[in-house]
Amino acid sequence: MRVLITGGAGFIGSHLAEAYLEQGNEVYIIDDLSTGSQDNIKAIQENKAFSNRLFVTIDTILNQNVMMELVGTCDLVFHLAAAVGVRYILENPLASININVHGTEKVLELCAKFKKKVLITSSSEVYGKHLHAPLVETDNIIYGPSSKFRWSYAASKLMDEFTALAYFRTKGLPAIVTRLFNTVGPRQTGAYGMVIPRFVDQALKNEPLTVYGDGRQTRTFTYVKDVVQALMGLMSHEKTAGEVFNIGGTEEITMFDLAKKIIDATGSTSAIEIIPYEKAYEKDFEDMLRRVPSIEKIKSYIGFAPTTDLDTILHKVIEHSRA
Ligand SMILES: NC(=O)c1ccc[n+]([C@@H]2O[C@H](COP(=O)([O-])OP(=O)(O)OC[C@H]3O[C@@H](n4cnc5c(N)ncnc54)[C@H](O)[C@@H]3O)[C@@H](O)[C@H]2O)c1
Repeated sequence: MRVLITGGAGFIGSHLAEAYLEQGNEVYIIDDLSTGSQDNIKAIQENKAFSNRLFVTIDTILNQNVMMELVGTCDLVFHLAAAVGVRYILENPLASININVHGTEKVLELCAKFKKKVLITSSSEVYGKHLHAPLVETDNIIYGPSSKFRWSYAASKLMDEFTALAYFRTKGLPAIVTRLFNTVGPRQTGAYGMVIPRFVDQALKNEPLTVYGDGRQTRTFTYVKDVVQALMGLMSHEKTAGEVFNIGGTEEITMFDLAKKIIDATGSTSAIEIIPYEKAYEKDFEDMLRRVPSIEKIKSYIGFAPTTDLDTILHKVIEHSRA
């Protein structure tokens, strides 16, 4: 089977590529290396067992000719390429909307043209400012005003979902929508606001761990290889097209407790420094204070439940960062 992964040199994409290569498939990657890197795919490129089955194109998904060729060649399409991370979105507002809305529309249009099954990666951000848990796929969404750009990521991902579902309804495109909650593991960079790699990096340098807001906001974390299993399971299932699925963990933790856990796990001498949101991001920044998924739906379709607990995830990330 030929599998196309847009954003395949990114954190999740590189693990997904590895998993499909391990199963004996051909993997095609397109990535412009904006937040991804050659380092993420170095190990699979250098693995002799994979080298004649891995094809990497360094280009943007907005390049219509290149994408026509790739989508036309492959059997399945995973669309992961996107502007990612709160900090990146705030610093690149226009380019982010362009890639997340226009880029996804182009990918879906080509999948419909060539009749290729496609899975898109939306985000838990689409739920917005909910305080209840767990979040169910059919819940309402609550955003701040358009003057607050942090919501543009959520809104752009929501538009992606509508577009994928509209292609399913009107053109019969087998499109699957996934909402990923915080996914973590080796190769994730802390450079664009991702909390665990940032804390681990600070702890290993014995620098203060900078907790934004009051530290009482909570998140759940899912190990990247568990997420990859979920993505592959949904893609190979016959009845997941036209559906939306949460993919996430269920162990809820405050950012303050997470910082303490990482200090303990690394044996660091770091202190914890509370930084107000307006200093960390921008004036009037709004965060999601709680983000816990219901995973009942994905469980009922493919039996998915995460198998890696937070302590194990932290251990793996710390080992990777040390190395
Ligand atoms: N990591 C998470 O916790 C998380 C949570 C929710 C949703 N997601 C979604 O999962 C997907 C993958 O995220 P990730 O965490 O691996 O981030 P990532 O930044 O590592 O991966 C995104 C990849 O897309 C590439 N890319 C960006 N614009 C591109 C373009 N125009 N053309 C080609 N490639 C381009 C980047 O270079 C990068 O390699 C994204 O769609 C993201 O929105 C991730």
